[in-house]
Amino acid sequence: MIKYLQEKYSAEVITVTVDVGQQEDLKAAEAKAKKLGVLKHFSIDAKHEFVTDYIFPAIKANALYEGKYPISTSLSRPLIAKKMVEVADKEGASGLAHGCTGRGNDQVRFDITLGSLAPDKKIIAPVREWGMTREEEIEYAKAKGIPVSDAAKKFSIDASVWGRAIECGLLEDANNEPPEEAYEWTVPAEKAPNTPEYVTIKFEQGIPVAVNGEKMKPLSLIETLNKIAGKHGVGRIDHIEDRLVGIKSREVYECPAATVILEAHKDLEKLVMTRHEVLFKQYIDAEWVFLAYAGLWVDPLKEDLDAFINKSQENVNGEVRVKLYKGGLRVVGRNSPLSLYDKNLANYNIKTSFNQSYSKGFIELWGLQTRMYNALKFSAKKK
Ligand code: ARG
Repeated sequence: MIKYLQEKYSAEVITVTVDVGQQEDLKAAEAKAKKLGVLKHFSIDAKHEFVTDYIFPAIKANALYEGKYPISTSLSRPLIAKKMVEVADKEGASGLAHGCTGRGNDQVRFDITLGSLAPDKKIIAPVREWGMTREEEIEYAKAKGIPVSDAAKKFSIDASVWGRAIECGLLEDANNEPPEEAYEWTVPAEKAPNTPEYVTIKFEQGIPVAVNGEKMKPLSLIETLNKIAGKHGVGRIDHIEDRLVGIKSREVYECPAATVILEAHKDLEKLVMTRHEVLFKQYIDAEWVFLAYAGLWVDPLKEDLDAFINKSQENVNGEVRVKLYKGGLRVVGRNSPLSLYDKNLANYNIKTSFNQSYSKGFIELWGLQTRMYNALKFSAKKK
């Protein structure tokens, strides 16, 4: 892309690499950029901001796209775009380029976020416009003296601290089980420890703040849970995903921390929220994750929903105990000073403060229309 922008657009190129926890060699990226004659290069560590401003809102929103995917890639895009625009403004750049193809979701996220934050700048997507096949791209790189790693890349990988996405190669056949070599953050269940491990996560206002009683900084909390859950083979996801552009794609992820935290958070909400809140918030959560997946992070509706979600988290304080074992996880305990669960009400002992004599009348009214309808149906049948 650097060569292409230099040649086709006679551009002076400034490169930006944003660290969102993808565990890649940023120094090597910088060295390669410089070798290709960029004007300047910026490496930005945005891991902390990614956790507090992107992952934490996603936790509060129980964000799982199509019920499965913790949007670990999707969440990082608006942040990367924001960092690009900050550099572009500072350096007085007239255009912004990204490396997305024309087939995926990321082009949508970058185009919309960049176009919203920097309406004055031209957006260029070289890979989408040049129309080269993978082989032609490698030829082009060779011809321009651009080093391409020989390690025939088996998969297309994208990672952030919230999870790792694996695509392409063998995985394109949706019927093929992902080979073990696709995974890096999780062990197969067969190789997980033979004894279960309990993890207690403490939440304050919907945000995880401590693990096993130990207060942790946001980033290290997520990293710690990635390690613990990964060791037990927890967090592997294999699903058919609907991309925005209409393509169904087979997606494989490993999101150990996300899987554990989202399960625990949702459980705690059910302990402290009224049923009206629990049921209504499902609609808000579903819309929130769709917007975040669909590249609409900067749409005002997302902010509107955030306002509701943040308010809803005021009482989401407490601890959730999760049991990890052989690739699976289960919430096995929870407690909160603001719990609405009352053992005294729920038990089957007759001597509780729950007045059973009210139940008869309640049911009478609750089922009124249902009984009326069925009575009509019954008498119609008789005629
Ligand atoms: N399908 C996911 C998303 O749109 C992840 C894509 C990850 N990209 C990759 N090259 N593996 O958010």
